[in-house]
Amino acid sequence: MRLSVIGCGYLGAVHAAAMASIGHEVVGIDVDPRKIEALSRGEAPFFEPDLEELLAAGVSSGRLTFTTDIAAAAGSDVHFIAVGTPQQSASEAADLTYVNAAVDGLLPHLRAGDVVAGKSTVPVGTAAVLAKRVNPTGATLVWNPEFLREGWAVEDTIHPDRIVVGIEQTDAQPSSEPIRGLSVREPGITWPVAATGPDSSPDTADDVVATMKAVYHPAVAAGTPFIVTDWATAELVKVAANAFLATKISFINAMAEIAEVTGADVTQLADAIGHDERIGRRFLGAGIGFGGGCLPKDIRAFSARAEELGRGESVTFLREVDAINLRRRERAVQLVVDAVGGSVFEKKVTVLGAAFKPHSDDIRDSPGLDVAVRLRGLGASVTVTDPAAIPNARRLHPQLTYVDDRDEAIRDSDAIVLVTEWDEYRRELSPEHASSLTSCRVVVDGRNGWDAAAWRAAGWSYYGMGRP
Ligand code: UDX
Repeated sequence: MRLSVIGCGYLGAVHAAAMASIGHEVVGIDVDPRKIEALSRGEAPFFEPDLEELLAAGVSSGRLTFTTDIAAAAGSDVHFIAVGTPQQSASEAADLTYVNAAVDGLLPHLRAGDVVAGKSTVPVGTAAVLAKRVNPTGATLVWNPEFLREGWAVEDTIHPDRIVVGIEQTDAQPSSEPIRGLSVREPGITWPVAATGPDSSPDTADDVVATMKAVYHPAVAAGTPFIVTDWATAELVKVAANAFLATKISFINAMAEIAEVTGADVTQLADAIGHDERIGRRFLGAGIGFGGGCLPKDIRAFSARAEELGRGESVTFLREVDAINLRRRERAVQLVVDAVGGSVFEKKVTVLGAAFKPHSDDIRDSPGLDVAVRLRGLGASVTVTDPAAIPNARRLHPQLTYVDDRDEAIRDSDAIVLVTEWDEYRRELSPEHASSLTSCRVVVDGRNGWDAAAWRAAGWSYYGMGRP
């Protein structure tokens, strides 16, 4: 099949490369010429395991091309919309500027029978609005959310645990509530209209489902659950999944807060409740909480959309989830302050990690960097190290000191803080080795990743999150 992928950020670049690797002819389209140049050379513009190999193989096979020209989408069977939906600066709602621009740019190049597949995470109700623009071309809009995790993006795209396709339901009664940033046209802007009208009858729902199954043929053949639903459900599956994951993390972090005033150990608590299959141990890692480009923004955008729909009270708990999450960063800072005797002023604090999680160079809403910045704000001399994220962190927070070498970063430190559980820190840094680098004996484990007993046995004061 021939596919176009509009938006070559995290999601789009991985999707384009993965689709080429399973035999499709793919064109990736993005407005950023630097990104397109890098991708065209088979280089990943960000750190993601296995992506570079996949890109290089796709580009050299000739099946994968990249361009800034949206006209190159013409002739594709399926057009994926994979642009970002960041948090608006003025509110917590999703910013749909890029989705609008992608759809409008695509319109003149659509043919009857094409499928436009939305992948971006959007407020529920978006597909119904976009379809009003897509339908006159004879193309069909589906919503096909993506569930990839950074660090596992290639694996998650090629071997998804489920595929969800939302299609138009003629008997559905979508909400008429407007969506901020989507329903209102600004005066003075000329919106492109479809240059080619329908030249054959539009696809039936069965045709569209067959097309989407053909796109994901290896996963479908392997028996991956393939869920066909309506637009609104498909949009909601994505935000509900992320809201659930965020809630699970904040639940265990709330238990950590209780553990801290009772002497309980939240990691043992998580192990014990996690044995109940209905609960499960995954995503019960208490620590400095969640960050990244998805969970924080998605729960806020979900709350904002629920309020627009007059159902704010249904997801009030997500405000609490967010608040608990942010409190844990403050707690980590307080632990460091207490551990070094009440003030970090002019103390050297080593922060192990900058990325919001390991196997990523992404620093968007990184809890660890937030902790580092707060410590710096209290007068500490903060040294940050990270195997992948230093260039990004340096651009955003030039006031911090960055050192590539882990041991150099630890040397003569007054306190070591683990914020991102890279193997280099969590598994490969022994208390004995750390003792040879600095005379301080203070570690704050923001991810509960270390063996507390081992550090204590080596003479260190160990402080975990929600642990005695
Ligand atoms: C998430 C979802 O997992 C993915 O399905 C969705 O498509 C996009 O958002 P991602 O942002 O890549 O993926 O990271 P994830 O692995 O979910 O971790 C999110 C954050 O939660 C990280 O900061 C991580 O450190 C934190 N986390 C995770 C915890 O604090 N505790 C845990 O137990 C698990």
